[in-house]
Amino acid sequence: MGKLICFEEEADLVEYAVKRIRQHIQEAMNEHRPFMIAFCGGRSPKGLLRAFFSLRLPWRDVIILQTDERYVPPNDKLSNQRMVRSIIETHAPEALESFLPMDTGLEMEEAAQRYEKLLRGLLPEGKGPDVVVLGLGDDCHVASLFPGFHHLKEDNRWVLPVEGPGVEPPRITLTPEFIRSGRYILLLVIGRQKRSAYSRLVSQSADVMDCPGKFLLHLPQTEVLLTADACSDSKE
Ligand code: 6PG
Repeated sequence: MGKLICFEEEADLVEYAVKRIRQHIQEAMNEHRPFMIAFCGGRSPKGLLRAFFSLRLPWRDVIILQTDERYVPPNDKLSNQRMVRSIIETHAPEALESFLPMDTGLEMEEAAQRYEKLLRGLLPEGKGPDVVVLGLGDDCHVASLFPGFHHLKEDNRWVLPVEGPGVEPPRITLTPEFIRSGRYILLLVIGRQKRSAYSRLVSQSADVMDCPGKFLLHLPQTEVLLTADACSDSKE
């Protein structure tokens, strides 16, 4: 079962997350292998991204992946890789060559297959990335795994294109199959606007098809980090 950890402020949450990520960096270095981390997009990871790229790391031994991407050009304001790249350029430009974004210049299915091939080439059989960082969407989605979509039941592919009603722009996403292989999974629930999604995440009535983030809760390697204003019972 995953852990739920509540923090008074986002800064405290970020400090804890960086401490835990550093533990996994050390583990990878001790095993003489690259440290691999996947970041989602949106607002939730921004504080952690800034703190992570402010670390003094041997960036040539780090691989930075995406959990999902909007199918827009890389310089589009909606692009997740544009957001991540901008933070890297500001805090650790030497890490740019370690960043492996999804290629939205390709046709969607091709882009998904290429990213999956890249992942399979980087990861030894049966091993996953060291850390996966996800945000909780207002509709309880994580990565680009949306309520009711078949992607939630995919048990072979690691990366899939996502198109359908309400998904605009279309997306490319890691699948639960791949995310579950992560050694440490961080789900960030930050801000009072996440109250409704959080209460569905922890409610007994919703299932994974209603609230995709739920698949993470059953994993022992998951830690849900939330700010006090996101907990439904927090004071006004
Ligand atoms: C995306 C993200 C998505 C995001 C959540 C939370 O492409 O939008 O990868 O999964 O992390 O929707 O988004 P916010 O942090 O902006 O609320």
